[in-house]
Amino acid sequence: MADNSADLVNLDARPAGNRDPVHPSITEELISRLVEQFYAKARQDERLGPLFDTRINDRWPMHLDRMKNFWSSVLLKSGRYKGKPVPVHMAIEDIKSDDFRLWLRLFRETAIDVLGQDAAVPTIIAAERIAQSLWLAKFATPFDPVPDWMFSKSA
Ligand code: HEM
Repeated sequence: MADNSADLVNLDARPAGNRDPVHPSITEELISRLVEQFYAKARQDERLGPLFDTRINDRWPMHLDRMKNFWSSVLLKSGRYKGKPVPVHMAIEDIKSDDFRLWLRLFRETAIDVLGQDAAVPTIIAAERIAQSLWLAKFATPFDPVPDWMFSKSA
């Protein structure tokens, strides 16, 4: 059977759809701050820090640029990111299911801090959906439900 899992978050493979930003107040400048602040915190996290640092090592400037392009594509529909996150995360064997909970907790808190509550809501929902795709590709059998903590209570 063909394995299409990589297409789940391959933004290139998606039909054009709705090209509007997820919220009118989001700018490239805010996305840059969101990414810088999120990874500054993630690197200080006891569990997530080593997961990122071991792998990224001296490539942090490139990773941050790539993540700014990624979030610009997701939030502003700019098309700046070209890549396939699923195989990248599949290849990181050390990632455990619970690491997605820690990642989302940090992301939610950073998004509210940097973007404010209104713009953070659609941003967090987008992050949760992508995290769910990555989690499903990495951990799920056809009968596994996505854990509750992958959804905001309001989503
Ligand atoms: C368990 C939590 C996660 C961990 C530990 C993690 C770790 C990593 C690492 C180490 C890389 C760099 C790979 C490399 O360049 O060698 C990476 C890349 C990336 N991550 Fe994650 N990640 C996590 C969750 C997420 C989530 C939830 C998203 C999206 C909402 C995401 C989006 C991306 C993207 C877009 C890339 C770049 C892929 C590319 O090379 O094109 N990650 N991640």
